[in-house]
Amino acid sequence: MKKKNVILIGFAGTGKSTVGKALSERLGWQFIDTDQRIEELQGISISEMFQTMGEQAFRVVESEVIDRTLKEEKQVVSTGGGAVLAELNRVRMQEGGVVVNLTASKEMIITRVSKDQSRPLVQGNVEEKVTALMESRKHAYDFADLAIDTSELTVNEIVERIAAVL
Ligand code: S3P
Repeated sequence: MKKKNVILIGFAGTGKSTVGKALSERLGWQFIDTDQRIEELQGISISEMFQTMGEQAFRVVESEVIDRTLKEEKQVVSTGGGAVLAELNRVRMQEGGVVVNLTASKEMIITRVSKDQSRPLVQGNVEEKVTALMESRKHAYDFADLAIDTSELTVNEIVERIAAVL
């Protein structure tokens, strides 16, 4: 049996944090942003972690945070776009609650990601980086219980679609 949580997965810029906050208010559950937890735990930003410790070290902390978070219930958990790359994380997510994959068009993702240059994996030529990363992660989010294309929906509509399957 799945635990009572909602886990939001999806590429950067698909609205996981925005939807997650709104959904947590709608359900009266706690909102957890794993990127934020990682930063609090390490006392530095994610881009500083990538610079000083490297991506692999970041991934280790990310897996620990996911594991620990999903031991609890009644949470809406927004995860980093690369959290699904580790099989163990995918297993924990599937056991940990209803997994929802938020998607958006590449154009929308590029527009959103360009506005926030703090993501270490999409520094420089954002369009090129996003295109390559999206291609390499084409099927990485397919294990979700539910996929929602956020491109033409309001936050409220997305929230209601998720609430309807709980
Ligand atoms: C990452 C996405 C980021 C963050 C880190 C790595 C990725 O989270 O975890 O920069 O590998 O796609 P968001 O998806 O919230 O931007």
